[in-house]
Amino acid sequence: MLRVNELHKTYPTGDEALKGVSMEVSGNEIVAIVGPSGAGKSTLIRCINRLTEPTSGEIWLDDTEITSLGKNELRRARRDMGMIFQEFNLVERLTVMENVLSGRLGYASNWQALRRKFTGDDVQRAYEVLDRVGLGGLENNRADELSGGQRQRVGIARAVIQRPKILLVDEPTSSLDPETSRSVMDLLTDIATDDDIPVLINIHEIELAIEYADRLVGLSDGEIVFQGPPEELDEGARDVIYRGAMQDESVTAGAGVGDAETSSVATERKE
Ligand SMILES: Nc1ncnc2c1ncn2[C@@H]1O[C@H](COP(=O)(O)OP(=O)(O)OP(=O)(O)O)[C@@H](O)[C@H]1O
Ligand SMILES: [Mg+2]
Repeated sequence: MLRVNELHKTYPTGDEALKGVSMEVSGNEIVAIVGPSGAGKSTLIRCINRLTEPTSGEIWLDDTEITSLGKNELRRARRDMGMIFQEFNLVERLTVMENVLSGRLGYASNWQALRRKFTGDDVQRAYEVLDRVGLGGLENNRADELSGGQRQRVGIARAVIQRPKILLVDEPTSSLDPETSRSVMDLLTDIATDDDIPVLINIHEIELAIEYADRLVGLSDGEIVFQGPPEELDEGARDVIYRGAMQDESVTAGAGVGDAETSSVATERKE
């Protein structure tokens, strides 16, 4: 179970991205964080495994308090948190198999990981996981030969091979067309059920969130302004989540849907 308590993040620029966020994720629920651009969705996901260092607050994964861990302990704890990224973060010129195996040693330093030897068990498990995500037979293809949807499946396989206690997912479908997006969401849902782990996911496209999530967390300007099942996201709730953004006319409640329809498959932008 993940428990976030009074999480604050202020960037060195003075940007207050999180202003005391508290929430829980447990069981095998799919929890979607929704909200306008700049609300703090990515910051929240990235603070949980400390890819972004929180300013204050506590993060508990079962009995481990993540923010208090030293470097080595954090490396170990990160294996319990499978991270899936918007731009996939694969090593493009390495094979599918190599990318998946890098998950065995954490996602922090792929290059370092790939100099190590992997056990036969690791390789066997990688084949199993690749089958599971529908990429059986593609293990020797280079990552840069794959479509966007296939790349995201490699990213998912790399997270799943860790046998994590939770999946943290940041906009997994933003680079994908609507149909591929749905198949990725189907896969994440299956993993939550089959592995009995929760999924905390940022989704820009509100309609996808409503369709797939058990629970929505509405973030606006660094604060949780809505929590509840998708059925409770009525006009009033949408207004509260997106009101700030509508005032400065940058985003409206339905904006994410249009984005998905016009976005092209997999660019190679690096973070
Ligand atoms: N590395 C950074 N340095 C300074 N400010 C940052 C940094 N990353 C994010 N921010 C700021 O923190 C706030 C929250 O950003 P964040 O990326 O978490 O939002 P988001 O909800 O994920 O937005 P989007 O939907 O566009 O991905 C924004 O005001 C953003 O400008
Ligand atoms: Mg984001």
